[in-house]
Amino acid sequence: MTPEILYALRDPAGVPTHPWLFLILGALTLALHMAAVQVMLGTGLLTLRGAYSRNPFWRRLAAHMLITAKIAVSVAIVIGVAPLLFVQVVYDPFWYTSNVLSAWWVIGFIFILIAGYIALYVFYWKNHHLETEGGRSGHWLVLSLALLVGVGYIVHALTNQMLFPEEWLAWYAPGGTIQPDGQQLHYSYPLRFGFFIALSLPVTGAWLLGYRRFQQGRPDADALYIAWLKPRALGLLVVGGLLAVLLGALWMLTLPEKMAWFAASPWVYVALGALLVTVALPLALGKTLDKGYWGYATFGLGAVALIVVCAVREVLRYFTLWGSHGYDALDYSVHMDWYSLILFLLTFAILGGVTLGYMLTVAWQAGQTVGRYSPSPALSRLGSLSIGLLVVWTLAYFGIGFYVWAN
Ligand code: HEM
Repeated sequence: MTPEILYALRDPAGVPTHPWLFLILGALTLALHMAAVQVMLGTGLLTLRGAYSRNPFWRRLAAHMLITAKIAVSVAIVIGVAPLLFVQVVYDPFWYTSNVLSAWWVIGFIFILIAGYIALYVFYWKNHHLETEGGRSGHWLVLSLALLVGVGYIVHALTNQMLFPEEWLAWYAPGGTIQPDGQQLHYSYPLRFGFFIALSLPVTGAWLLGYRRFQQGRPDADALYIAWLKPRALGLLVVGGLLAVLLGALWMLTLPEKMAWFAASPWVYVALGALLVTVALPLALGKTLDKGYWGYATFGLGAVALIVVCAVREVLRYFTLWGSHGYDALDYSVHMDWYSLILFLLTFAILGGVTLGYMLTVAWQAGQTVGRYSPSPALSRLGSLSIGLLVVWTLAYFGIGFYVWAN
């Protein structure tokens, strides 16, 4: 496929701000998406492991992790939309072609996701007394995790098909016969997929360390439970981290020919370093882990490591499409649209900041309270402010729309 054809597929409208902003936000929001996906899968697995145990600590952990998994799946889905928007803006010829080639799966993705989400809730509804009575109907949780991993597999295939324009014609018309049904996923790379899925283990280990620190902050902290958690969290972090690094190394060593240069590039070492430093942090901290807020530091550093991994993944894509196919994602024509850019940034910073700040503070304080929790008057005012801001935002959004339409 020549660069001219790829450029001809590009949206002639250009982009409303410089493409580098989309690339940066794409990598940043993908890292948030991956963190939520990995917490979702890891806490789901811990729930499965603990729900059927006779050990009351395992069952307590399972009950708490089930709540985490339930929330993480929503966060993963909502945040997944952000990199989706960015990838289709700066890689539109590739993303849309890949989607059309597997259209059946792009639509199926939604139904599989809904089924996976519902299966998780069915398990939750059947297990309101998981801690005291143990787990019931675990097949719903197994089904849910399988469907959710299946959803990830579809996105993985779509993301990888876009990197091989030289194959598109053969996929669309194998042997010269057009197959327009979009029923096939044409390309996947199990080591790459395995790397991202295996990262669930260390990310969940880091999450558990934070959870442990959160438990320490409760007035009724259970020292035995907190001590029991530590080796489990460290085990997940270290063994899981090494497994993920191994899969990542195998992925790099077996990269397709046109990407092979990447394996020896400094980018790979930057990502490797970020992952290894995260795994080593709690070991290096020793007893300091239990002082101050250090218990949360591993997850914080892990989030930074995920941003690095996603940025490096973007470097691989950008240079593959540029170097092998002559397509530069940074040379879109820019038609600066200040209004939508400022609206986007303000929505993100002010509306998102106030609303999320309110919800996270309430959840945090409620989790640290024994008995009934009532938010302070100042916090309740923040809640009212977030509703007020949402109303103002909606009025401004539709108001400008009607103004432009009427003029
Ligand atoms: C809930 C189950 C999900 C799982 C397990 C999952 C997993 C993954 C994985 C492993 C990747 C990296 C693929 C690769 O680079 O090879 C990925 C990327 C991505 N995911 Fe998800 N995902 C899930 C749901 C979603 C949803 C619901 C959305 C959209 C609303 C979404 C949007 C994306 C996008 C846009 C990318 C790629 C972005 C890019 O190529 O720049 N994901 N996901």
